[in-house]
Parts: sequence; structure tokens; C-alpha cells
Amino acid sequence: MEILIRDLLSSDSTPYNLLLEADPSINKVNRHLSKGKCFVSIYSSEIVGIIIINEKNTHENEIVNLAVLEKFRGKGIAKKLIKYAVDYSRNKGKKSIFVGTGNSSLNQLALYQKCGFRLDHIIINYFIENYDHDIIENGITCVDLVMLKKSIINIKGI
Ligand SMILES: CC(C)(COP(=O)(O)OP(=O)(O)OC[C@H]1O[C@@H](n2cnc3c(N)ncnc32)[C@H](O)[C@@H]1OP(=O)(O)O)[C@@H](O)C(=O)NCCC(=O)NCCS
Repeated sequence: MEILIRDLLSSDSTPYNLLLEADPSINKVNRHLSKGKCFVSIYSSEIVGIIIINEKNTHENEIVNLAVLEKFRGKGIAKKLIKYAVDYSRNKGKKSIFVGTGNSSLNQLALYQKCGFRLDHIIINYFIENYDHDIIENGITCVDLVMLKKSIINIKGI
């Protein structure tokens, strides 16, 4: 399958269907879209995946949204988007990249660790304090935000 990754262009219609799957808060999605750098996966001129990264500070970026269309999942598209975001961040001189996910998001926790992220810290009660409805996945209530971090320092400067 020929998948191309490129910037989200102003001529693209914003794929809210995807963005809201990763984050049900429209306010947060809009904030991330306005502040962040957004890349999309294209298959046959259709946007099938999206990733947004934000600059946390001089040395660190954060993945703040990632989603793939349901019928395109399980084909490595998320892994490719993460690699693209990591390469972009490294080229911008960042030393590490963060991503946060819920304690109940077992597939996402697997995905990020397979991409080289390691558990960094937990924001206790994040979902209770920031969302007005219960989120349950894999039979687990989502309450805490698990932050993972990947070091992207390029030792040889390549
Ligand atoms: C999470 C998500 C982005 C993964 O996208 P994807 O393109 O299917 O992911 P990949 O194909 O690159 O898979 C990478 C890993 O994710 C996990 N994974 C993906 N699909 C899975 C599934 N259906 N069941 C279990 N694990 C799965 C696996 O660990 C997989 O690794 P593997 O290829 O070695 O088995 C996608 O499921 C999605 O859009 N979900 C809804 C939005 C969301 O939850 N975003 C993340 C918010 S933190």
C-alpha cells in the first residue's frame, strides 16, 4: 500500500473525524491545530491518518494527537507517522519527544513502547479533572494520564 506523509495543507479539509477519535475535546483539538505542526498520511488522495506535534520547550516536543481511519488500522500507519514526527523533531534540534495516553489505552501503550518510548511520569486524575464523562476501555476506567518519553538525541550527529 503506497502511503505518503506530508504537511496538512490549508487546502485540505481538517479531518475532525480523526482528530476527535484521539481526543474528544473539540477545544483542545482546535488549540492543538492552531499551535502545532500537523502531518497527514495520504492513501489515494484521501487523508487516512494524522499526527500533531507541539513544541513543549527548546529541547522537547510532544505528540498531542494521533489517529488512523478505522479501516486502515493495523497496517503500520501510526508507526510511520510517529517515525516521521520523531525525525522532524530531531531535525529541529529537539532532544526528546513526549506522548500521553490513558491508563486504559492498552493498545496505545503497546504502540508507543514498540516505537521506543518509555514510561516517564503519570498525571494522576487527569481524565477525571479534564473530561466531563466516563471513559472506559478494555474494561478499565480511564483516570490517569500516562506520559511516555523517547530520547531522540543523535549521538553521531547524523
Ligand atoms: C492507536 C492508533 C493510532 C493505531 O494506529 P494503527 O495505524 O492501527 O497502528 P499500527 O498499525 O502502526 O500498529 C502499531 C501497534 O499498535 C498496536 N495495535 C494497532 N492496532 C491494534 C489492534 N487492532 N489491536 C491491538 N493492538 C493494535 C499494536 O501493538 C501494533 O503493533 P504491531 O504492528 O507490532 O502489532 C489507531 O488505533 C487509532 O487511530 N485509534 C483511535 C485514536 C487513538 O486512540 N489515538 C491515540 C490516542 S493516545
